[in-house]
Amino acid sequence: MAGRLTAASWLFSNIALASLVQSSHRPSGYCVQLDIPVFATAPSAIYDIPQVNDDIEATAWAIFDATWSTPHGVQNIITNTTTSDTFNIHAQLCVPKSSGKNGVLQIATHGVHYDSRYWDSTYKPEEHSYVEATLKAGYSILTYDRLGTGQSNHPDAYNVVQAPLEMEILRQITLMARNGTLYDLAEKSQDALPAFNELEFPSKVVHVGHSFGSFLTSAFIANYGSLTDGAIITGYLLSPYLGSAGSTSFSVEYAATGSPSYERPSGYVVCQKSGIQNIFFGGDPKTAFTPELLDYAVDIKQPVPIGEFASAFWLIGNYGPSFKGPVQYLLPEFDFYICRGDCKGVANMTALAQTYPNASAIEVAIQPNTGHALPLHNNATAGFQLIYDFLDRHGL
Ligand SMILES: *[C@@H]1O[C@H](CO)[C@@H](O)[C@H](O)[C@H]1NC(C)=O
Ligand SMILES: *[C@@H]1O[C@H](CO)[C@@H](O)[C@H](O)[C@H]1NC(C)=O
Ligand SMILES: *[C@@H]1O[C@H](CO)[C@@H](O)[C@H](O)[C@H]1NC(C)=O
Ligand SMILES: *[C@@H]1O[C@H](CO)[C@@H](O)[C@H](O)[C@H]1NC(C)=O
Ligand SMILES: *[C@@H]1O[C@H](CO)[C@@H](O)[C@H](O)[C@H]1NC(C)=O
Repeated sequence: MAGRLTAASWLFSNIALASLVQSSHRPSGYCVQLDIPVFATAPSAIYDIPQVNDDIEATAWAIFDATWSTPHGVQNIITNTTTSDTFNIHAQLCVPKSSGKNGVLQIATHGVHYDSRYWDSTYKPEEHSYVEATLKAGYSILTYDRLGTGQSNHPDAYNVVQAPLEMEILRQITLMARNGTLYDLAEKSQDALPAFNELEFPSKVVHVGHSFGSFLTSAFIANYGSLTDGAIITGYLLSPYLGSAGSTSFSVEYAATGSPSYERPSGYVVCQKSGIQNIFFGGDPKTAFTPELLDYAVDIKQPVPIGEFASAFWLIGNYGPSFKGPVQYLLPEFDFYICRGDCKGVANMTALAQTYPNASAIEVAIQPNTGHALPLHNNATAGFQLIYDFLDRHGL
């Protein structure tokens, strides 16, 4: 009995310690957890998509979505609507111990099937956390759970969590970062540390995306070029291969009854382990990643609201003459979902230059022997370094 109590209190104190470490002191910086009320108004729509209330309907949706004749565009809209609400967006703001970068803030947007933990692995963080590496490189970094994921709100999967609203949320968060509201919130937060007291405004803001977060980032910089100083687009490129593997490759089940199950309403689906490997892992399985990394990727997976897929087309190929900064596309060599398994030679530099005609630089880099989830492969830190080198070369 006494032994069990001791074990329980040992476990408790270690969990408490782990969460303290996670939420505040890091080897290269300090972090605070924030719940940000974000007011957003955006065009939305009722799409002609099936309801998903069990596993059979989840797979049926995936087949529907992957069917060649299913429209993915305005043809699929039944009624145009407007969504206007205040949403709770959970975020983490981290500042470096030594800012070699004089206050440059990165705002990182994660993709589908994940939340902000994608950027901040607690499994071997020194090798797989983009947040840790970015602090070490001297940047501040904001990561947030996109609407519908993690500790942010999980509203209606069909009619609310849609691409234009999510782009507007990214815009509001960026405005809050640029006008000091975000740093104010951090200073007043419960677990605030002295490191957050003297912050006023970020000197510059760099937007970083992964996958669907890169759909959002590339559309955001195209539409609101004056709100960004540079962008890093990981795991996304517009080409004939984009998404051509289809949503059946996700191997989804219904989130509310899956194993594990998630507290989500109708229309949220979640990948099974085989889907996580299909989409997020690639390269030689003996050298590119480990079974532990795949298990960790399964542990932190998140459900996805299907309205996101119906509305994603709004974000693709937006023309961005207002974007004047540098942009790097960082592509995993063997990205299955984005490049159908091989990104080499897929980028069309002419098309990219036409999309961002006033960009100061456009670069495409390939990270070798890696699949879609860049941070969760063995050579992740060398991939992160390609980002910092690019930013450094362009004064960021
Ligand atoms: C919804 O709005 C889009 C863009 O404005 C338009 O192209 C489409 O025809 C509209 N659809 C309906 C059903 O009103
Ligand atoms: C900063 O931007 C946010 C988001 O747009 C806005 O709600 C807030 O009023 C602004 N604050 C200041 C001080 O300008
Ligand atoms: C570049 O930006 C300027 C405004 O700063 C704009 O007038 C021009 O049309 C843009 N260039 C192109 C090719 O769109
Ligand atoms: C690259 O993009 C340009 C401009 O959109 C297009 O004219 C050209 O055909 C594309 N090249 C290839 C190989 O697809
Ligand atoms: C690791 O990534 C770096 C940066 O892309 C690359 O130069 C290096 O060859 C990679 N190493 C291996 C073993 O793939």
